[in-house]
Amino acid sequence: MSTQNEQPEQANEPLNGAYNPEPNGRNGYHGHQELRQVKDGPAFIAPTPPRYAQIVGWGYHVPSKVITNRDLEQIVDTQDEWIRSRTGIEERHVAGSPQETSATLGIQAARKALDLADIHPNKIDLIICATSSPEHIFPATASLIQDGLGAKNAGAFDLSAACSGFVYGLSMARGHILAGDAEYVLVIGAETLSRIVDWTDRGTCVLFGDGAGAVLVAASDVPGGIMASVLGSDGSGADLLTVPAGGSAMPATLETVSNGSHYIKMDGRAVFRFATRVMAEATTKVLAKAGLTVQDVDLVIPHQANERIIQNSVLKQLQIPSEKVFVNLQKYGNTSTASIPIALCEAIEAGKVKPGDKLVFVGFGAGLTWGACAIEWRTPVEKQEATWWRNTQRQATYQAAAARSMWKRAIRRVYSQVLSTREDEATS
Ligand code: ACO
Repeated sequence: MSTQNEQPEQANEPLNGAYNPEPNGRNGYHGHQELRQVKDGPAFIAPTPPRYAQIVGWGYHVPSKVITNRDLEQIVDTQDEWIRSRTGIEERHVAGSPQETSATLGIQAARKALDLADIHPNKIDLIICATSSPEHIFPATASLIQDGLGAKNAGAFDLSAACSGFVYGLSMARGHILAGDAEYVLVIGAETLSRIVDWTDRGTCVLFGDGAGAVLVAASDVPGGIMASVLGSDGSGADLLTVPAGGSAMPATLETVSNGSHYIKMDGRAVFRFATRVMAEATTKVLAKAGLTVQDVDLVIPHQANERIIQNSVLKQLQIPSEKVFVNLQKYGNTSTASIPIALCEAIEAGKVKPGDKLVFVGFGAGLTWGACAIEWRTPVEKQEATWWRNTQRQATYQAAAARSMWKRAIRRVYSQVLSTREDEATS
């Protein structure tokens, strides 16, 4: 590492991006520094202002079809009373048409987040789609979302950490922004779990729902934002919650399809025990990392899997009062990676988030995985009504993206036909 009076080899040349590994803040952010040397003088480190990762846009979208507990009574041997008392869930939204997929739900949620932040899709540097029900093994659902948004300057990848995926995604977004690699990162949780649920298994089909939530994370010089994150995994519990078939370990065969190995399999009790332990532990750890205490917290937004898990972890173990814990699982069930961003949007709508508030997002899921983020909220939450002209511009942007995508596909098809005709002619 170069220090203050050291002579760089290339005198007079700025060495952009020289890195100072000394932590300079409680969130561990090191800051960007530029090593320069004035003509014939000593080298000095010119610090650039610290960067912070702020959530500046948010949105969610759920399919319109609703399945209530009473509806489920007609499908499997269950009772509304059992589901309510054991989970807290009353109804869930389910993708009812083939056009409703993880990508299309994600696109809808992402557009709302971009519209709210008033940011053009061209400005996005990276799209992270956390999902447990991707459209395909590959390509990434994130790439389909990138295309649907017309975010032509963005990289895109899927993040597989099951229901912890959204928290993992926020942590990745923060890292990219603090490293100076990105100005805007879109983090999406998008699910159509109804397509991988066994609708004859009452132990799982009553729990899950479909939907998507998105946040836009932006580089900022305003202190606060995503202050700290904690991520964890214990792969020894991989078999407790899994979709056994369809991957490379158990490729699809007639047998895997006929015995239902492409559906979610879960040991509910074991997952319950694990979840109640790690939710409290991860919350405690992330608060310590952010230099906060439980008393500092204004709102916890936990993964919305089961009301009893939330009660036995954050409420009982950490003694956080129920008015500081946001729960909306009664309306949506467990939407996996989408549950925290959907709950965040509804918490904002309910007036439970305001600038200056300290928030914790905490989740757990298959893997096993868990994660938590501590956030100092800085963005104004008042809804700004968009003008007619702004709305028209936005619609035009998305229509142009769709037209551009169709055009590129058509050109690619024609080009490959021309090439193969030429190759045929050359070999004949
Ligand atoms: N309706 C009626 N009875 C049911 C149902 C149902 N839908 N499901 C199970 N039962 C029965 C069981 O068969 C059992 O009957 P038995 O005693 O005659 O054998 C009885 O109810 C109790 O079953 P348990 O499994 O002990 O019930 P429990 O109180 O543990 O609740 C539940 C089950 C809701 C699944 C709970 O264990 C749970 O929520 N676990 C965590 C699951 C979770 O959060 N998974 C998502 C993780 S996130 C991700 O990555 C996708």
